Amino acid sequence: MKVLELGCGNSQLSEDLYRDGIKQITCIDLSAIAVEKMQKRLLSKGYKEIKVLEADMLDLPFTNEVFDVVIEKGTMDVLFVDSGDPWNPNPETASKVMTMLHQVHRVLKPDGIFISVTFGQPHFRRRFFDAQEFTWLVEWSTFGDGFHYFVYVLKKGKRSLDHGGLCKKVEVPSINLYHDELEGEDYLFRTNIDDLDF
Ligand SMILES: C[S@@+](CC[C@H](N)C(=O)[O-])C[C@H]1O[C@@H](n2cnc3c(N)ncnc32)[C@H](O)[C@@H]1O
Repeated sequence: MKVLELGCGNSQLSEDLYRDGIKQITCIDLSAIAVEKMQKRLLSKGYKEIKVLEADMLDLPFTNEVFDVVIEKGTMDVLFVDSGDPWNPNPETASKVMTMLHQVHRVLKPDGIFISVTFGQPHFRRRFFDAQEFTWLVEWSTFGDGFHYFVYVLKKGKRSLDHGGLCKKVEVPSINLYHDELEGEDYLFRTNIDDLDF
């Protein structure tokens, strides 16, 4: 499985994926400093196979249909920082978000999956994820206590008209077992991926 992480920053995500058996991981970040630090950290811990590149998620330096999974955690949120009214984001924000999603859709294999972990609620993400040009089926779950966050799973090539509402909530009961531990950065890895029905 080939995985691309967008905006890795200093996250532990790639290490944890690697330890879970996923060896072909590429991380990108726009910040040269973040990339350098991440490269050093991964090398010092022996994760030589994980690639870390300085790159812009709005202009991904990859050919079409190469990744099985693209994942981001808190990176898409950066695009919304100057969005103005969240109900009606300004045209520049909307354009950047759509550019990012087009890039993700392009580099995903025909049956690839985009995973977005965010504090962005469905009513603010739906209009972008559900845009007609994308072939993905959009499902999401919410976690947390009081301060909720959201996991969106977008399955390329799986969109169908009889889906009954494009951006659909799914129940993922096994995650609730770990409810108390979801505050830490490793929360994603307590997810039973089989339960997400990839
Ligand atoms: C909020 S941090 C999240 C970092 C990491 N994903 C995590 O969970 O800790 C956002 C990261 O996205 C990076 N970033 C912002 N815009 C980007 C872009 N256009 N392309 C790639 N990375 C970007 C920033 O440099 C930063 O490291």
